[in-house]
Amino acid sequence: MAKHKIAWLPGDGVGVEVMEAARLVLDRVGLDAEYPHGDIGWEFWRQEGDAFPARTIALLENVDAAMFGAITSKPVKAAEQELVPALRGKGLVYRSPIVRMRQLFDLYVCLRPCKAYAQNPLNFKEGIDLVVFRENTEDLYAGVEFNTVPDRLRDTLAELSPPFKAFQDVPGDQYAISCKINTRKGSERIIRAAFEFAKQFNRKKVTVVHKANVVRATDGLFLETAKQVATDFPGIAMDDANIDAMTMWLLKNPFSYDVLVAPNLYGDIISDLCAQMVGGLGFGCSGNIGEKLAVFEPTHGSAPKYAGQYKVNPIATILAAKMMLDWLGEADRAKRIEGAVAEVIREGKVRTYDMGGAAKTLEMAEAIAAKA
Ligand code: IPM
Ligand code: MG
Repeated sequence: MAKHKIAWLPGDGVGVEVMEAARLVLDRVGLDAEYPHGDIGWEFWRQEGDAFPARTIALLENVDAAMFGAITSKPVKAAEQELVPALRGKGLVYRSPIVRMRQLFDLYVCLRPCKAYAQNPLNFKEGIDLVVFRENTEDLYAGVEFNTVPDRLRDTLAELSPPFKAFQDVPGDQYAISCKINTRKGSERIIRAAFEFAKQFNRKKVTVVHKANVVRATDGLFLETAKQVATDFPGIAMDDANIDAMTMWLLKNPFSYDVLVAPNLYGDIISDLCAQMVGGLGFGCSGNIGEKLAVFEPTHGSAPKYAGQYKVNPIATILAAKMMLDWLGEADRAKRIEGAVAEVIREGKVRTYDMGGAAKTLEMAEAIAAKA
C-alpha cells in the first residue's frame, strides 16, 4: 500500500493540463502515493445536475489530502437549464463546487503564500514575501441568500432594525439579500492559525484586514477577536487596516506587511492582489485546510480559451503540490520542489508565455522536475 492517498481532481479546462504537470513533478521526487481520481466540474453538472457528485464527496472522506485543478463555472440561465435533460424541471442552482467543498469538509483555513521568486520577470518588486490567511467557510460566502425576499423575512427585518423599514414597501422580487455571517469561533480559528504560522515561521507581524468602520457587526467581531487572540502571542506584532486602504498600502509599501488575515471575501480580494505582485495567475497557489482534510489548488480558474493548448504556466499548481507535501509531513520533497521552481525561474531559460517565453506547460514541468 502506498504511504499517502491523494484524491486527484483535475476538473476541466486547463485544470487537466496543470495537474498533469504537477503529477510529473510529484512522481519525479519519488512520492510514495496513490492518486484515486475524482469527478468534478462543469461536465458533471450538465450530465448529472451536480458538479460535485456524491461519489467524489465519498472519495474525499477517505483520503489524506487532495489536489484540485480548476473548473469552469458559467452563469446558467433558467431557459438554458431546461435544455439539459439532467437539469430539466428540477430548478437546481449551480453552486461552485470548491466553495461547497470548503464548507462541507470545514476547510476553514485558506492559506495563500505569495512569494516573489528572484528574477521572475513578472515580479512587481523583488523580495516580496507575503502570506494570506483567508477565512474559508463563512462571511459573504455562507450561501445564505435570497433572490426574492420572502415577506416574512422583510417584515421581521423591518421590526428588528429601523434601517430596514425603508425596504418594507419594496416588493420582494425587487431586491435581494446576501447575508454576511461571521461567527466568533470562525473568526478565532483563522486568526489563531495566522498567529501560529507567524510564530512557527518566525514572522514578525500579522495584519488584520477588515472594514469595521462601516460593517460594524461582523467585521467588528473579527477585529475584536483578533485583538484578543493577539494577546496570546506577545512576540508577534499585530496591526489592522481597512480593506480599501489595504489595497493601496500593499502596492505602496509591500515590505511593511508580512502575514495578512481576513474574512472570506476580503481574503479573496487581497489574495488576488498579492498574487499579482508576485507574477499573477501562474504563481498563485492555495491550500484549503481543515482538521481532517486539506485540498490544494492553483488559485487560477480553468481558462477555457487556453484549454487544450498546454501553454499555461503550471508553477501555481506545482507550488500547490509543494504545499501539500509540507502538510503531509514530506518537508524534504517539498523543499526540493520549491528549490527547483526557484532555480528554473532564476535561470530564465524556460519560461511560459505569461513570463514572455514559449515553453509549454509540460516543458516547464520537465525543467522543474529535472532540478528537483
Ligand atoms: C478563489 C476563487 C473562488 C472563490 C471562486 C472560483 C468561487 O476566486 O478560490 O479565490 O471565490 O473563493
Ligand atoms: Mg478568488
